[in-house]
Amino acid sequence: MSLAILPESRATRRIAPSIPDPIISLQNVCKGFGSGATRTEVLADINLQLREGEFLAVVGFSGSGKTTFTKLLAGLEKPDSGQIMMRGSPITGPGPERGIVFQNYSLLPWLTVRGNIALSVDTVFAKWSKGERRDHVEQFIEMVGLSHAAHRRPHELSGGMRQRTSLARTLAMKPEVLLLDEPLSALDALTRSTLQEEILSIWEAEKQTCLMITNDVDEAMLVADRIVPLNPGPNATLGPVFDVRLDRPRDKTALNHDEGFKELRNTITNYLVSVRQQARDAQRLAGGGAKFELPDIQPKDLSLATKAVFNSPPTGR
Ligand SMILES: Nc1ncnc2c1ncn2[C@@H]1O[C@H](COP(=O)(O)OP(=O)(O)OP(=O)(O)O)[C@@H](O)[C@H]1O
Ligand SMILES: [Mg+2]
Repeated sequence: MSLAILPESRATRRIAPSIPDPIISLQNVCKGFGSGATRTEVLADINLQLREGEFLAVVGFSGSGKTTFTKLLAGLEKPDSGQIMMRGSPITGPGPERGIVFQNYSLLPWLTVRGNIALSVDTVFAKWSKGERRDHVEQFIEMVGLSHAAHRRPHELSGGMRQRTSLARTLAMKPEVLLLDEPLSALDALTRSTLQEEILSIWEAEKQTCLMITNDVDEAMLVADRIVPLNPGPNATLGPVFDVRLDRPRDKTALNHDEGFKELRNTITNYLVSVRQQARDAQRLAGGGAKFELPDIQPKDLSLATKAVFNSPPTGR
């Protein structure tokens, strides 16, 4: 269950916006995989509302179910129970109004940057003229700074360039909701920082609703209006919602000296540390730690024969 928050930190006191309507809502959503002994319960009792125009970040631990959560919103997975609605209608499958950027870029290797983006644009905007589609593709290639590399295939691109292509491909479809599944986690710190700023400025210009999954609290605080932790699995639930009421545009360097930022970062980090510890304790109590069945082995008599070759006493040299 998600609680409306929370700590009256300086970061949460600055702005008091009116609450926009939800665009996507999740009610009591549960999701697992497999059956019988191999069944894994991944998400349990997920309740959340994604508000129109907001930037929401979900922070979670590795393997807790973040991608599963994103795929449910994208309609690529179906919940076992509960409901996921977009503007009051159930989400029953993928749709162009929800664009997803995956963790691993997932570009088509035989197509160039331009080709990858054009494929999506041609599919979604099939009714546009050829010229309109071409201009649209070029606009998004330029937006992510890849005009010089538009003719290259994915294997000829750096990780940052691949992720830019992936972002441009999704943005070019003009989705109402942008779902970003750890889009920057595979990148080096410098590229990550540049792309964080690019994502923010695109979001500020386009005013889409955006949900970003991340494992980095600082990143979440830089981009998001609200942050929701995904507790460790199995049966991962959502933690409390933290409002990030820091002025925009946000400057990373300035934020590091901001008392409100530091206070909220500590609160969220402490929350994550404590839920991880609780999960570990619970696992230990349930005997979930590694169990070893020791074999019944008796030690062998290893005393050496008097004429053993090794370690035999010196022979009078
Ligand atoms: N299609 C599937 N079939 C079976 N199990 C799955 C499937 N997809 C995910 N899982 C399991 O669900 C759990 C959560 O996986 P998921 O990929 O959602 O986690 P994550 O938080 O995104 O992990 P990471 O931090 O590594 O990206 C894992 O135990 C994973 O093995
Ligand atoms: Mg994942």
